[in-house]
Amino acid sequence: MSKTIEIGKLTDIPKLGSRVVKTQQGNIAIFRTMEDEVFALHDSCPHKQGALSQGIVHGKSVTCPLHNWVIGLDDGEAKGHDTGCTKTFEAHQEGGMVYLVLDEV
Ligand code: FES
Repeated sequence: MSKTIEIGKLTDIPKLGSRVVKTQQGNIAIFRTMEDEVFALHDSCPHKQGALSQGIVHGKSVTCPLHNWVIGLDDGEAKGHDTGCTKTFEAHQEGGMVYLVLDEV
């Protein structure tokens, strides 16, 4: 089972920025790209748990603020020579509102 929760307005998340949502499954960072796509990732880098929400968004990736690993927003995978994966969550926007889909625990 999953549940969809309304996060707020798309415009409350800056372009190339993020917003953190606290859930029972931990902090989830909701990212907004330049093209107004939204992606949701566990707010924890697969390297040493840096807060990805503090990173720099470019294209469909975010660069971790701690040691510059680049993480794919769509799959949570580390790019390049780095290996690791951050859990992703389903997020979408509809009518200017952002929604996050969580597995019920
Ligand atoms: S904690 Fe993210 S690159 Fe090291």
